Order: sequence, then structure tokens, then C-alpha cells
Amino acid sequence: MAKTAVALQWATPASWVKAGPLSDFDAFLADHANCERKASALALSLVVRFPDRKAIIRPLIDLAAEELEHFRQVFAVMEARGVDLVPDTPDPYVARMKKMMRHGREERFIDTLLVSSLIECRGAERFRLISEAMGEGDPIMRDFYRDLWACEAKHGNLFVEWALKFASEVSLYARLAELAESEAEVAASLPARPSLH
Ligand SMILES: [Fe+2]
Ligand SMILES: [Fe+2]
Repeated sequence: MAKTAVALQWATPASWVKAGPLSDFDAFLADHANCERKASALALSLVVRFPDRKAIIRPLIDLAAEELEHFRQVFAVMEARGVDLVPDTPDPYVARMKKMMRHGREERFIDTLLVSSLIECRGAERFRLISEAMGEGDPIMRDFYRDLWACEAKHGNLFVEWALKFASEVSLYARLAELAESEAEVAASLPARPSLH
């Protein structure tokens, strides 16, 4: 059984929570909702673009449904707080991650899976930080972000597991190491905002 755990090469400092999400939690929720919606859309776009990858079609549909459920959950939190959805704005982190992807159908497919894995892992890390910062002060949000953390961490591993069905372990882990280095540089370079990235 190949390893599928992904290690981020830069750790978001705990101080990010205060400077970022907690600086305007309502704005953060609106961004978070968009992230979940886009995660669902990305899974479905892979189904559309790569219908020949039969081994992962069903899992991708399941993932799209799960991310849509996250969107529904975050939107419910927003509704309870009287927060509106906001129009989609470019996410500088995701934009820079997309630029790292190679061209060519096969390379693009593998890089999309690996970049998605890293984005999921970064999301999981940050949900963990938010959950820990909420603590006893807001047990509902603490548990909400704890559950999301566990879920996104699982997705981070899933994308690598799927990529391993279509590429050799050696080449895949070499590429993942390269992308993880670049991801760390991007994540470390971006200022904290009331957003996930
Ligand atoms: Fe999610
Ligand atoms: Fe996810």
C-alpha cells in the first residue's frame, strides 16, 4: 500500500487566525462558502474533462456531493448570522497554484489532482487552527471546524490516492514534492485576510 499522506512544507502560524478569519468572521464565512462551492465544482469539472478515468468517476461524484454539503452547512451558518453570499472574487492563492500546473492532457490531469491535494491539506490545516482558536468560547464553531478539518485532511489524501492509479509512485512523489515546495512559498508570501487563503 503506497503512502498517501501529504506534508505541507510551511506551517501557517497560529497568529494567522486573529489576523485573518477573526478580523472579520462574517467576511471569512462568505469566502469559506465560496471555497466549498468551488471545491464541489472542481470535482465535477474533473468528471466532465476526464470521463475516461473510470476508476475515479464515482469517487469524484461523491466528493462533489460532499463539498456541496459543506457549502450548504456554511451557508446555514451564514443564514443564522444574517450574512449574505458575496460574488466570486479571484483567490490569489488558488490562481498561483493553478499557474504551477503543466500543460498537456496527462500532465494537467496529474497536476490538477496533486494541486487539489495540497489545497485540501492547506484548508484542513487552517480549519484546525480556527477550531483550536474557537475553543470553549464558541464550542459550536469549534466542532464545526474540527469536523471540516478532519474531512478536508481526508480529501488531501484521497487526491494522491487517485493520482497513484494513473502514475508511478516514484514520478508522482517527485512531482508532489516540487509542488509542495512551491505551495509553501505561495502560502507564506500571502498576507492574512478574512479569507481561507
Ligand atoms: Fe469541503
Ligand atoms: Fe475538501
